[in-house]
Amino acid sequence: MKNLIYLLLAVCMLFSLAACGGSKAVIETAPADSGAESTIGNVVSSEPDAAAVGIDYLALVNKLHPLPDGWEDALQTVTVTNSVGDEVEVEKKAYDAYLLLKADLEEQDGIYLELDSARRSVAAQQDIMDRFIEKYGADYAAKTVATPGYSEHHMGLALDLYFRLKGEDGAFTDVYYNEDMVQYPEIWEKIHARLADYGFILRYPEGKEHITGYGYEPWHLRYIDDADIAKEITSKGLTFEEYLGAVRTTDVNIDYGAFELYSREELEDIPIINGGWPERKTAD
Ligand code: DAL
Ligand code: ZN
Repeated sequence: MKNLIYLLLAVCMLFSLAACGGSKAVIETAPADSGAESTIGNVVSSEPDAAAVGIDYLALVNKLHPLPDGWEDALQTVTVTNSVGDEVEVEKKAYDAYLLLKADLEEQDGIYLELDSARRSVAAQQDIMDRFIEKYGADYAAKTVATPGYSEHHMGLALDLYFRLKGEDGAFTDVYYNEDMVQYPEIWEKIHARLADYGFILRYPEGKEHITGYGYEPWHLRYIDDADIAKEITSKGLTFEEYLGAVRTTDVNIDYGAFELYSREELEDIPIINGGWPERKTAD
């Protein structure tokens, strides 16, 4: 009898704990990339989780579109060290594609690519913005550096390149600073000609400043993970905004009027407030 009372008491305690939320439900989930159904308690959900879905390589991030919510949940990156000793974090597939592009350019054109910057945190972007505002003023900074939260660099899919030149003696020279890099249009032409084969586009092309809202950046690539689309964008001379707005109207609604943020002349007018370019190329 005594045992029966203890048993009844134990059962009652279990019920009351559950009623006041004092117990923890056991949650079982399928492995992130299994694509299988996940079971939560006895509710079966066929909704895949964020990591299983992966990132949207065609997501638009620009002056009007911030980094999509939850982006980091599915983002997979690698961190590598460049020729000047800086660590660069890049989205995994974008890095694999970059390595193929780099190998191709080395073999075919004798151009040695390096990564200056890829994924940046919001805090790192703010740091760049602050330095540019101090150096050039807020107006120029806004035409050159994305507002923190609105940079493609947060995605890990934007890659800023620099390159190395190999001398006759076999020694390498880093061409690293903005003002040095723009002296080599013929090298950029060769680099740009190969981007689409590996799923990259030139994100801020010359002459499209009124659409992208940023000055020409020969070094800033965007990985879109689809060579066919990259080839279409490149061969038609489109910006990513134009492609998404005109070709994929169901996905993105673009107000072209709102994109006409700067004229080309405005972007060429560089009011240097405090000396020349920064010692190292940092923005963009
Ligand atoms: N320079 C590009 C726009 C960035 O800061 O993301
Ligand atoms: Zn960039």
